[in-house]
Amino acid sequence: MSQALHPMLNVAIKAARLAGSLINRASLDLDAIKVSTKSPNDFVTEVDQRAEAVIIETLLTAYPGHGILAEESGREHGAPDSEYVWIIDPLDGTTNFIHGFPFYAISIALAFRDQVQQAVVYDPTRNDLFYASKGRGAYLNDKRLRVSRRTRMTDALISTGFPFRQGDNFKRYMKMFEEVMQNCAGLRRPGAAALDLCYVAAGHCDAFFETGLSPWDIAAGSLMVTEAGGLIGNFTGEADYMHQREVVAGNPRIYGQMVNILAPYSRVIGPSADGKDAAGKPSLAGAAPAETPESALAATERQPTAAEALKKRAVRIRKADLQGGSGGDAPF
Ligand code: IPD
Ligand code: CA
Ligand code: CA
Repeated sequence: MSQALHPMLNVAIKAARLAGSLINRASLDLDAIKVSTKSPNDFVTEVDQRAEAVIIETLLTAYPGHGILAEESGREHGAPDSEYVWIIDPLDGTTNFIHGFPFYAISIALAFRDQVQQAVVYDPTRNDLFYASKGRGAYLNDKRLRVSRRTRMTDALISTGFPFRQGDNFKRYMKMFEEVMQNCAGLRRPGAAALDLCYVAAGHCDAFFETGLSPWDIAAGSLMVTEAGGLIGNFTGEADYMHQREVVAGNPRIYGQMVNILAPYSRVIGPSADGKDAAGKPSLAGAAPAETPESALAATERQPTAAEALKKRAVRIRKADLQGGSGGDAPF
């Protein structure tokens, strides 16, 4: 980035690098790390907790009046009523980390009045620093990021996250998986949603989708995607994905085609009286019970009707984006 970084972004970078050093040191002796289970298949280590503490201390030292929403400590720290809220995942990809599988990251976003303004995702295994400021582009180290230019689903590499918690709707996911797999060139499950979104921003993947994610998994990555020219939304293509526990992101052309595939599986569009969803397919949108304060909160918010959802979707996606890649840019 040629211009000076925003001071709040600089503080977030400092915090991410400090946490990254701690995580790198801990990775040298994985057998010594104490692992606890939050729920079956959902792990936390003392490294997650120490990294989170370092990040929070760094941020609040610089901005004591700001709020904090962090994966391990929730809203325990920071000012509860501030319009500035740091959204933190101290170690995204804990399962990978525990196994020494080198794909995990620190994710820090700053939201002002619920809009993400600054974002950092740091992969300490590769020393890859992704960062973005709203309106000023997304970068990896010094390189400006652009989403890929592929236009056809049949050429696209898609990443995803598998459901793994008890109560997750595995059948619904398997249907989506099958449909996406049959339409694209390749499907990957790297294992760290924050980094998956950065890879969409960098053009390494053409799109990403997952269910069951929380704000700390996606806040920072979402700004990377949009600042790199991509789109992100829920499965019906609406903008309020942060608390919906379903997210799809991609370059604009592939995003449109992904929404076409995923919309019937959205929980946002509930089944109509005849049991069919907005696309006329039998609804598979059996919602799992709310699992976090955020999802409980989201569940209390009024959900849009199918008609409203489709109307909003039409605003966000150009018609061409919904129709394969014929006649657009040359495929890569
Ligand atoms: C997880 C990772 C993973 C995704 C999970 C997340 P964590 O975060 O992002 O890729 O599939 O849903 O919970 O628990 O390792 O921070
Ligand atoms: Ca995470
Ligand atoms: Ca985490």
